[in-house]
Amino acid sequence: MKIFIDTANLEQIRTAQSWGILDGVTTNPTLLSREKGNFRDILKEICRIVDGPVSAEVVSLNADRMVEEARELAKIADNIVIKIPMTLEGLKAIKILTAEGIKTNTTLVFSPLQALLAAKAGTTFVSPFVGRLDDIHHFGMDLVEQIVRIYDNYGFETEIIVASIRTPLHIVEAANIGAHICTVPFAVLEKMVKHPLTDIGIQKFLEDWKKVEK
Ligand code: E4P
Repeated sequence: MKIFIDTANLEQIRTAQSWGILDGVTTNPTLLSREKGNFRDILKEICRIVDGPVSAEVVSLNADRMVEEARELAKIADNIVIKIPMTLEGLKAIKILTAEGIKTNTTLVFSPLQALLAAKAGTTFVSPFVGRLDDIHHFGMDLVEQIVRIYDNYGFETEIIVASIRTPLHIVEAANIGAHICTVPFAVLEKMVKHPLTDIGIQKFLEDWKKVEK
């Protein structure tokens, strides 16, 4: 399973990149609003740090405007992927951009039918938001399970990015279901590494090592 980081914070991206497990980055307008500096410069720097796909989102709602915005964003770097919201206008834009060879990530996906349509339009990635569904008492991971099955049934090549991740357990579930990618906030990435028994084990080995004749 590929691991993306869900942030526009350069410090966090550099740190995660140094761990050697990072496959890509997702940003959105909210994440960029938390950072200082011109958004284009930030995206350019992210694309320099990370070799894999870096999602940048359009803010237009009309297909023609989305396509214009996407073409501009795509000039930032070769690894930019355009995030398009899951609407009828978004579908039209995805179709055009796919034909032009520009990669897309269909965002704000909350139903299996939305994911089916996005794949039919040719989207490169689809992003079901599990945490936001959990927040309103729907099992977000049920959606991921359905998308995996539907894509398998028809051989769609669209990759599923499990988004809106809140806890390490979301990642365990996504990996068990067979989703291609999880996009993970930095704080959750850190939690993935830790286990108290590992820390206790290291401490015990170090104490016992002192007793070994050297
Ligand atoms: C995905 O690409 C989005 O940027 C993100 O996962 C949304 O997460 P949130 O629901 O925590 O805002």
